Amino acid sequence: MTETTLDRPVQTPFEQIGGVPTVRRLVDRFYDLMDGDPAYAALRALHAGELAPMRDSLTGFLTAWLGGPRDWFVERPGACVMSAHARLAITPETAGQWTSAMGRALKDSAIQPSLRDQIEVAFTRMSQGMVRR
Ligand code: HEM
Repeated sequence: MTETTLDRPVQTPFEQIGGVPTVRRLVDRFYDLMDGDPAYAALRALHAGELAPMRDSLTGFLTAWLGGPRDWFVERPGACVMSAHARLAITPETAGQWTSAMGRALKDSAIQPSLRDQIEVAFTRMSQGMVRR
């Protein structure tokens, strides 16, 4: 629980969605869609052949980003997810494929619709910010 000035503790988004198992299912669904749907071929081509390390890394990042354990950042001092994408030639097309696949994975998840929508808006902004200009 996160301490607040309120008289009751407030759940983090990580706690609200059910913790690591929900994050992991979301990430696995996202990469399964990216790997299997030809609509995401350009996005898939940017990634390494072996997606297992990315499944672990995105799960770890999102766990911390949603307010859960911060191991991903502790293991990568100074890491910035935006900077991690700076070397990639991300276009509006590939950014759109990322948000499309993630949007579908979010809709397939058990995350509450209102929180799901907030997460989707944030991912869309991040993805647009990663487009190389
Ligand atoms: C704009 C669309 C995006 C594209 C095209 C993209 C693409 C990529 C690629 C190609 C990699 C390296 C994968 C590999 O080495 O196999 C990567 C890593 C990663 N991406 Fe993205 N990404 C996008 C958006 C995002 C967003 C919005 C997030 C966070 C919500 C994110 C989180 C990560 C993480 C955590 C890593 C792993 C970094 C590491 O372990 O060093 N990506 N991404």
